[in-house]
Amino acid sequence: MKSQSLSARAHAVMPGGVSHELRYKTPHPIYFERAQGAEKWDVDGKRYIDFKLGAASQILGHAHPEIAEAVALQMARMPYTADCHPLEVEWAEWLNRLFPSAARVRFTGSGTESTMLALRLGRAHSGRDKVLRIDGHFHGWHDMLMKGAKPGINTAPSLGIPHAVTDMTVISPLDLGAVAELLDSDPQIGTVFVEASGANYGSVPLPDGFLQGVRTLTDQTGHVLVFDEVITGLRWSPGGRQARDGVTPDLTTLAKIVTGGLPGGAVVGRADIMDLLSPSETRDGLSPPVSHKGTFNAAPLVAAGAVKAIEILSTGDVQTHADAMAARLRDGFNAVFRALDVQALAYGDSSTCHLYFGGRSIDGLDAAAIRKTPPAVVKGLRDGLLERGVDFMSFTSCVTGLPHTPDLIDEAVVHFRDTVSDLIRDGVLS
Ligand SMILES: Cc1ncc(COP(=O)(O)O)c(C=O)c1O
Repeated sequence: MKSQSLSARAHAVMPGGVSHELRYKTPHPIYFERAQGAEKWDVDGKRYIDFKLGAASQILGHAHPEIAEAVALQMARMPYTADCHPLEVEWAEWLNRLFPSAARVRFTGSGTESTMLALRLGRAHSGRDKVLRIDGHFHGWHDMLMKGAKPGINTAPSLGIPHAVTDMTVISPLDLGAVAELLDSDPQIGTVFVEASGANYGSVPLPDGFLQGVRTLTDQTGHVLVFDEVITGLRWSPGGRQARDGVTPDLTTLAKIVTGGLPGGAVVGRADIMDLLSPSETRDGLSPPVSHKGTFNAAPLVAAGAVKAIEILSTGDVQTHADAMAARLRDGFNAVFRALDVQALAYGDSSTCHLYFGGRSIDGLDAAAIRKTPPAVVKGLRDGLLERGVDFMSFTSCVTGLPHTPDLIDEAVVHFRDTVSDLIRDGVLS
């Protein structure tokens, strides 16, 4: 087993042997070395159907030929010089056309950097330091927005985050009335963050009308409203959830698909707020009023792939196909649950599929209840599926994309049925 020996080497030089805590796995992770479309192959040559698709960044599939060609050409022409270049203008123009909130665009190094910058802009514009965020929503790993990332827990899920910082972060339940009360009772809150899909790419869906409600509320109160569309941008529709639902935030954070599945991110938003980043503006003696740098912002290599990806995704056809494949997957999983008499549910919006193992409905449940899958079920499902050559995202969720075909979906459903049957046989599921 090559993965086992790679993991042993990794443990000697990398904490936990991994570069991202969610890649940790006992007895060891599987190491991959090739991916094409919706399939990938591990270092021992075993093939997997992939429902992780690069943490939801590769909606066009792995190694899409047009993206690969655009990036290869740019690599040979000018990968990166730390100068302005034409492709960043083209990229920004695409986002401006597609996203209703994108009067202005600033590129960043990642989704986490996007939410950091949006929050700095929110504080600068409002003149108030605190941020309100929704319980369980994820906005990256930086200090200011980690508190509340684990649903139902009112502390930051990490050592090393100063109390002085977590005191600036206010968690609201997923309830408009609660949001309104907190905004009213704490005059230091200036910015409101919402993950546009609902927590963790929609595993905890937003109640109907929530985005519109929070928009109306923040319009009345003057708080800066940020939609985190790192997942939903270009997935829920070419213009993200905001275009699909017709609700425009003040600022939007983007990454993943918007960068063509290559490293990077962007903040887009209202001109008067975004122009605080302009070195031609001065406020309180500072020019630019809000400072933002970053060596690899809008790197040409990334911009080349991003522009090509956005061009392909701008028609909405890929999203329509991906949504249909996710619906087929959800139907297939629910049919398995019914046939095997398991009280569980497959659900999800757009091109996502989430699993809930506490009954046939998630109505009325909060994030902590929805996401409390018994560890033995998580591990049994993950191990059983990997053994059969199927890889999920976040253990109990999937995303679909352009290269998923009905045949691949049906093949995965068969492996899912066999895995669930084993878990019933072993008493892990009843
Ligand atoms: C909604 C959301 N916001 C922010 C981030 C952070 O993005 P990155 O991993 O690029 O830092 C993620 C990552 O999964 C995300 O899902």
